[in-house]
Amino acid sequence: MNFYYSLDTIIMTLQIKSLEAYKTIYQKSVEKPEAFWAEQADTFVWRKKWDKVLDWEFKTPNVKWFVGGKLNITENCLDRHLEERGGKTALIWESNEITGTTQKYTYRELHAAVCQCANALKANGIEKGDRVCFYMPMVPELAIAVLACARIGAIHSVVFAGFSAQALADRIKDAKAKMLICSDYNRRGAKNIPVKQVVDDALTMGCDSVKTVLVHKNTGDSIDMNALDVWWHEAMQGQSTECEATEMDSEDMLFILYTSGSTGKPKGVVHTCGGYMVYTCFSFKNVFQYQEEDVYWCTADIGWITGHSYIVYGPLLAGATTVMFEGVPTYPDAGRFWAICEKHKVNQFYTAPTAIRALMAKGDNWPEQYDLSSIKVLGTVGEPINEEAWKWYEEKIGKGKAPIVDTWWQTETGGVLITPLPGITDTKPTYASYPMPGVQPILVDAEGKEILENEKEGLLCIKFPWPSMLRTTYGDHQRCCHTYFSPFKDKYFTGDGARRDADGRYRIIGRVDDVINVSGHRLGTAEIENAINQHPQVIESAVVGYPHDIKGQGIYAYVIVGEEAKNNTDLEKAIRAVVNTEIGPIAKPDQIQVVSGLPKTRSGKIMRRILRKIAAKDMDKLGDVSTLLNPEIVEEIKKGRG
Ligand code: WTA
Repeated sequence: MNFYYSLDTIIMTLQIKSLEAYKTIYQKSVEKPEAFWAEQADTFVWRKKWDKVLDWEFKTPNVKWFVGGKLNITENCLDRHLEERGGKTALIWESNEITGTTQKYTYRELHAAVCQCANALKANGIEKGDRVCFYMPMVPELAIAVLACARIGAIHSVVFAGFSAQALADRIKDAKAKMLICSDYNRRGAKNIPVKQVVDDALTMGCDSVKTVLVHKNTGDSIDMNALDVWWHEAMQGQSTECEATEMDSEDMLFILYTSGSTGKPKGVVHTCGGYMVYTCFSFKNVFQYQEEDVYWCTADIGWITGHSYIVYGPLLAGATTVMFEGVPTYPDAGRFWAICEKHKVNQFYTAPTAIRALMAKGDNWPEQYDLSSIKVLGTVGEPINEEAWKWYEEKIGKGKAPIVDTWWQTETGGVLITPLPGITDTKPTYASYPMPGVQPILVDAEGKEILENEKEGLLCIKFPWPSMLRTTYGDHQRCCHTYFSPFKDKYFTGDGARRDADGRYRIIGRVDDVINVSGHRLGTAEIENAINQHPQVIESAVVGYPHDIKGQGIYAYVIVGEEAKNNTDLEKAIRAVVNTEIGPIAKPDQIQVVSGLPKTRSGKIMRRILRKIAAKDMDKLGDVSTLLNPEIVEEIKKGRG
């Protein structure tokens, strides 16, 4: 049955149009995954078709999609659209300043800009397989240079520009990046942030692999230009706007994106060309039900996976018009998002629960001032959305007419795996709902046994590969295996807990490992503890998440300090400053409590469960503490919680 495949424009192919179709397609995708994905992959431009759709085993793991296929993802994002929609707007860029410019790139213009940049990268020594690190604001040049890397087979690693010099240096070193692309200053709300200075500092931290720093002039404020620095505009000068795309294998690396885990330093999640292309395009079209004339806006930063998959690759692969915003939701005022929706007649709007909660707190008069009637679909991502925020979003932004897609996915999954399909499957507040075609989620208990009944909670795993799943963690395949595939045999473990309702909808409860989700940003507690412990007066620390009205989770740090810190009135400030330097402002603890000890098991393990409950002021049900090495400490910590 090929009915969902009968309309022949690029936009309409792959789109599921009814509940019946969803059910049929889902069934087919599970019964014959290879045939299903081959059909989807067939709608792209391949230099050479694959020999085999899928090769896999989860033990080591070894997953390969479209084996032997040759392609270049940018030919699918750009070149193949030129004939049919070369004059269509591909990218709308909205600047930080409300009075500032809006820039638009048609598919033809974007193609030319990407080719020109690709030639400039080549002229500066970048070849297939080289890693290029980014530390940039949300300007069109970021998207252009990311695509330019993909054009010539260089592997991009975008680092969120809110991370510190130390965090940037760690990521540059891990990937052995040959080039770094940055701006002079970033505009964020009322601030101009001197990011080139951060880059200069990072490069003093042993980043020997970097041979060139390409500097985009953003604000034009003064900076130091050093020996490795090349101005972006000078590098582009004289470069041709044509650049033959480099042929890539399906399984060649497309990008690395660092994300926090429960232990050690952040890991570089690796995505490859073929599978990522097929899945991001397929999911974009279905999750947002994009139509040819629509304007789609995702407010994420390209420093995170959401920006990769659903600002750049997914929309461009689908031939969509995608909006990119440089600024913040509250500048110049809390109506900014809605002003942009009105200005560009945005049809699909995709943001994070933390932004919704923050804007909800500013009052209904902000959205009420704007015409939001263009909005057809609303999306959320990154963290569980509470019912109050969900309802406000539905009522005040969607006016009860735009279904909310609460999309669950991860850096590792590459694309949305569990979500309602707008207008097709129903929505239920706080539920990410049903799996996408080809996605086979299951719940398991602590022993890894599958929970078959509904109305149960468990650990969320995926039991069959999907095309955009991570392939490895950069430079450390063992870590990938250990983190995601060893916990439960023959399953990908997500690290999330979930509940399945009577009708099979999934509700994501949150992380079950030591990862906290602050404003939709993943942070490892171990990473924050390591940073706090850099303070010379800190002896030991334990970090947990606790419920926070706006951020979803806040960061609560328990610290044991030395004698000399007892008179230090600036201790909290100093601890926050260390975290700021080691990781960046997003990881600064919201609350710091000095304690004389931490609750530990007899084997010396910190009992975080107890610390989490105390931080959440949920003190009545701490459970049995008598087996602790130091049960008396619990009372002291409880008293200090205030
Ligand atoms: C959480 C973001 C509840 C989850 C795309 C996951 C969510 C982590 C949702 C991944 C959702 C993401 N409901 N929780 N709709 N979406 N999460 O890698 O804990 O930045 O494991 O990817 O965010 O965060 P990441």
